[in-house]
Amino acid sequence: MSNIKRVLVTGGAGQIGYALSPQIARGAIYGPEQKVILHLLDIEQSKTSLEGVKMELLDCAYPLLVDVLTFTDPFDACDNIDVAVMCAGFPRKPGMERKDVMEKNVAIYVVHGKALDARAKKDVKVVVVANPANTNAHILAKSAPSIPSENITALTRLDHNRAVSQLAQRADVHVEDVKNGIIWGNHSSTQYPDVEHGTIEGKVIEERLSADEDKSWLQNEFIPKVQQRGAEIMKMRGLSSAMSAASAACDHMRDWINGTPDGEWVSMGVQSDGSYGQPRDVVYSFPCKCQNGKWEIVQGLSLSDVTKAKLQLTGDELVEERSLAMQCVHSS
Ligand code: LMR
Repeated sequence: MSNIKRVLVTGGAGQIGYALSPQIARGAIYGPEQKVILHLLDIEQSKTSLEGVKMELLDCAYPLLVDVLTFTDPFDACDNIDVAVMCAGFPRKPGMERKDVMEKNVAIYVVHGKALDARAKKDVKVVVVANPANTNAHILAKSAPSIPSENITALTRLDHNRAVSQLAQRADVHVEDVKNGIIWGNHSSTQYPDVEHGTIEGKVIEERLSADEDKSWLQNEFIPKVQQRGAEIMKMRGLSSAMSAASAACDHMRDWINGTPDGEWVSMGVQSDGSYGQPRDVVYSFPCKCQNGKWEIVQGLSLSDVTKAKLQLTGDELVEERSLAMQCVHSS
């Protein structure tokens, strides 16, 4: 049993949880040899639905899935876990101000942070998916002081994957031919999808997409397309992205645990150390390389003045979100 990994999914009965658990049970995080026990957490009102998800997971008869444990108590759910994918969050509803959502989510992430602090393994790896993901991750880290803050991250791999897919479609190549895109900053519409450093079929993106209409697409369409993709999906489906968010969360964890290939990086929301002149003590998306279960921000990339200004914009938003969140912590 000691070799079995315990993976917590919060918001286990929700849309993303429903898409995520089967992927984890098929080995999308730990690979095809590693057995897992899923810990699914949701609120008391979703208890019956959570049991239904468990029944379906058992019905799938996944060879890697040793057990499915369901919880409504976050402390019990965090017991001895190796990995946590945090999808629990209060969705914004019509008429709600950003602050109202922040208040509700801050309250959740303070409690979940305390639960991780008390009961998770000290080397637990955490990714926050629920919005505002970067700021929820910041609050989680502050509420779990015994867990190293580098172990608490936010999901921007979804945006990274969206950017890779858009570029591959435009260049008419496979996604594997697109490398080293970067999403900088916040998982919000201020994020900056950077094409200055990536390649398509080994060529700098701007050289590979150098025809006039491609240049115009890169300058005018690509960035808003990636920034607004979540909103676009929501309009089409009437629901927010779940399958792609779940897939990206598995990609994020798999690469963090198993490492990124030599010379390649991925985008991860991580504790900012002030790299590239960005604010410290926020969870900021940087290009990261992973090795031996640790991420490291890629250093030394040269940034144009346009890119620097975009980084500042998304950094400023994160500082503003952090102060709003901290007000909510203090007033609760
Ligand atoms: C996404 O990027 O698809 C989501 O973060 C959008 C949302 O607000 O749920």
